[in-house]
Amino acid sequence: MRKSHYQIARRRSISSMTSAQSAVPEREELLTLARAAALQAHAPYSHFRVGAVVVADGQLYRGVNVEISSYGLTLCAERAALAAAVSAGARRITHVAVACIDAPPTAPASARTPCGACRQWLADLAPQAVVYIDGLEESLTVKDLLPYAFAL
Ligand code: THU
Repeated sequence: MRKSHYQIARRRSISSMTSAQSAVPEREELLTLARAAALQAHAPYSHFRVGAVVVADGQLYRGVNVEISSYGLTLCAERAALAAAVSAGARRITHVAVACIDAPPTAPASARTPCGACRQWLADLAPQAVVYIDGLEESLTVKDLLPYAFAL
């Protein structure tokens, strides 16, 4: 099977690590993959393309926003990636990277961070994940994004 860029890059970075270091995916690698995923977005109405990458047990899952003619039924990239991960049997999601490639460079953080629905999905399905947002320097926790989250 053909290896993804991510697997190849990861193998390279793992092999250069000492045994004391853990094989944590690189933030920039994941953001690069999220930007690449965003190129597949189906956003004929907003023209605002979003890509997301989820890491679970070293496996990668991608998602893009998918818009349909009934606008309110649009699926966000984060939820598409989370659904792909869960559908594949992934449970412990450790990292999520999101890239809004059509956000202007000067756009505020609010034009890049997950919407409310996606934050609830993250709280339910990836509560321990570190979240990387393209264009934001800081790494976020899901609690940063959704304090006092609803849970059952
Ligand atoms: N969008 C996402 O994919 N993720 C978010 O968290 C916010 C918004 C998408 C939905 C829609 O296709 C486009 O961005 C503009 O709102």
